[in-house]
Amino acid sequence: MRELIDKLARTRSLSADEYERFVAVRTPELAAELAGRAREACERVYGDAVFARALIEISNVCRNDCYYCGIRRSNQDCARYQMGSEQVMACAQEAWRAGFRTFVLQGGESPALTDAWLCSLVRDLKASFPGCAVTLSVGERSRDSYRRLREAGADRYLLRHETATPAHYQQLHPAAMSFHARMECLRNLRELGYAVGVGFMVGSPFQTPARLAADLKFIERFKPEMCGIGPFVPHHGTPFASEEAGTVDLTCYLLSLIRLMHPAVLLPATTALEALKPDGRERAIGAGANVVMPNVSPAALQGSYELYDRKPVSEKTAFQKWAELERKLAPLERRLVIDRGDAAEPSPKEEQRG
Ligand code: 5AD
Repeated sequence: MRELIDKLARTRSLSADEYERFVAVRTPELAAELAGRAREACERVYGDAVFARALIEISNVCRNDCYYCGIRRSNQDCARYQMGSEQVMACAQEAWRAGFRTFVLQGGESPALTDAWLCSLVRDLKASFPGCAVTLSVGERSRDSYRRLREAGADRYLLRHETATPAHYQQLHPAAMSFHARMECLRNLRELGYAVGVGFMVGSPFQTPARLAADLKFIERFKPEMCGIGPFVPHHGTPFASEEAGTVDLTCYLLSLIRLMHPAVLLPATTALEALKPDGRERAIGAGANVVMPNVSPAALQGSYELYDRKPVSEKTAFQKWAELERKLAPLERRLVIDRGDAAEPSPKEEQRG
């Protein structure tokens, strides 16, 4: 496997079979080796910097019925909310003062999240916090809508592909949703000049090593600026309530592979990792992740944005979260930086190294 690691680091590409082999033969030793190489690759591009994103969960209303997600339409046992613009601006204000320079507005696919409302919010944020980056994560929308939001100033968009295997996509979503539509959205976002984030859940029902290899191959080809991967964690109010959760170990292993194929990709240490293990996010940083996205939504609402069970809820202020992250990153020789944290330009392949 040592040769395959070298090949991946050198050429940034493997065949689907080779990716599958990595998944199949995973051992703690191989994981440690990959993590070390991934950390080095990350350091060469970003030094010891870790980027912070202030996550604001603007609404948990959703028209979709994804089988895995706790805020799916059919979950009656979910207190639905929609934040007001002033409330969002107040969260952003506090986060800005704490050092955050990227705001991520995330929400379900709610009819209340109109283009007009979102555009005006994006404009307000960009005007009030000069130099900030605004990331949107509000699901599938029309190309026109994505264009308007981009024109209003949105810089980045997160839309996980969920799985690169169409048949698997259909096992995770009702017939009203399609792999094809998701891919079209991703293409539109890219063409409109967004920095685009894709991603998937690790250990989702019906996932296989071959399907994970297809995800890796998709990420290799699409070259997203960002890639969010986290373990699947069942939610009690969904059809997947009694399915098994994914693992922190496999998630970290995949993060390392993704870092080696795309040294400049922005890789968050996702919250779902923390839901499974208290030190899950630190382990992800140790495996090559370089972004943290603490939730700065009002504490009273955090519990209702329940994508999965055990999702952490914290009363801490944005300042306290910043300080806590700094403290946790110090032993990893990583530093939280006051910076928008854009993706670096990918460096050429086959670089010489000693
Ligand atoms: N476990 C882990 N991740 C989940 N997501 C939704 N439900 C779950 C779950 N049960 C992820 C999806 C979605 C993102 C917003 O959260 O990948 O794209």
